[in-house]
Amino acid sequence: MKALTPYVERACAHAALACQPWVGQGDKDAADAAAVEAMRARFADAPMKGRIVIGEGERDEAPMLYIGEAVGGGEGPAVDIAVDPLEGTTLAAEGRPGALCVAAFAPRGGLLHAPDVYMQKLVVGPGFTVDADDLDRPLIEVLKRLSAQAQDRLRVVMLDRPRHAAIVQAVEAVGADLCRIDEGDVMGALQTCLPDQSGRPPFDAYIGSGGAPEGVLAAAGLQALGGAMVGRLLFRDDAERGRAEALGIGDLNQAYSLDDLASAQARLVLAGVTGEILAGPVDRKVDVLTIAPESGATRQLISV
Ligand code: FBP
Repeated sequence: MKALTPYVERACAHAALACQPWVGQGDKDAADAAAVEAMRARFADAPMKGRIVIGEGERDEAPMLYIGEAVGGGEGPAVDIAVDPLEGTTLAAEGRPGALCVAAFAPRGGLLHAPDVYMQKLVVGPGFTVDADDLDRPLIEVLKRLSAQAQDRLRVVMLDRPRHAAIVQAVEAVGADLCRIDEGDVMGALQTCLPDQSGRPPFDAYIGSGGAPEGVLAAAGLQALGGAMVGRLLFRDDAERGRAEALGIGDLNQAYSLDDLASAQARLVLAGVTGEILAGPVDRKVDVLTIAPESGATRQLISV
């Protein structure tokens, strides 16, 4: 897996550069398409028997990086790949900070084949514990336990959505700090583990529902960073349930542990598109963060 990392880093870096002409142009589909095309072109160089398990959708609706698509040079290890070629499409289209190009990979079978539905997520950083039952416990009870595990006041981050009103109430009830983010819960979840300039992660817990694919991508990074996570797929209708069943998911109500979502051998690569935690490209140099089991989080500028 380690030998493949530079190829995935370059794929993400190329994708970040390719969508730059669309940043701030109001066309998120065009920005996404540019990132997808660039990422896929670079995967062709990688010496692997790669298979997209989380991608742009089904074959008939997505011409590239569709679920099940074979990528890579055809020789080498059998690898499962999850991609979000442009995470934060709205951020990129509106020229706002925080958009990223993201890919995770693991030995075959090491990433949950999550459908493009929502996932209920509870993520915590090192030093905190979660278990599958937490998804069914009253949130106040969970927050009280996490507060008792925190060094000082518990710091929670969530996507700012009307559907999260009950989370706001519970966080306020236990006296924890709450940060609301507009978009981008891959990075939101990782920020329970990634130190900022102060030397410690800015948040203790990420709570709420977001994309299931983003949940698997975050899990791939959390494995190497010492975080923990539980998640459950959320379905709005039978069509969404059908998508999960088509991917081989038998128990639609399953509570997934971190190991269920991504194996301990998983790796995650993120490239900055519109600068925030990761800078946007400057002079064809792309800010890339790689999270791997043997080295944790490593940041570098990649020239493309
Ligand atoms: P896109 O890049 O697909 O727009 O996703 C951005 C994002 O904020 C994800 O990080 C998050 O998981 C999801 O949208 C949340 O979905 P919603 O905006 O419907 O709440």
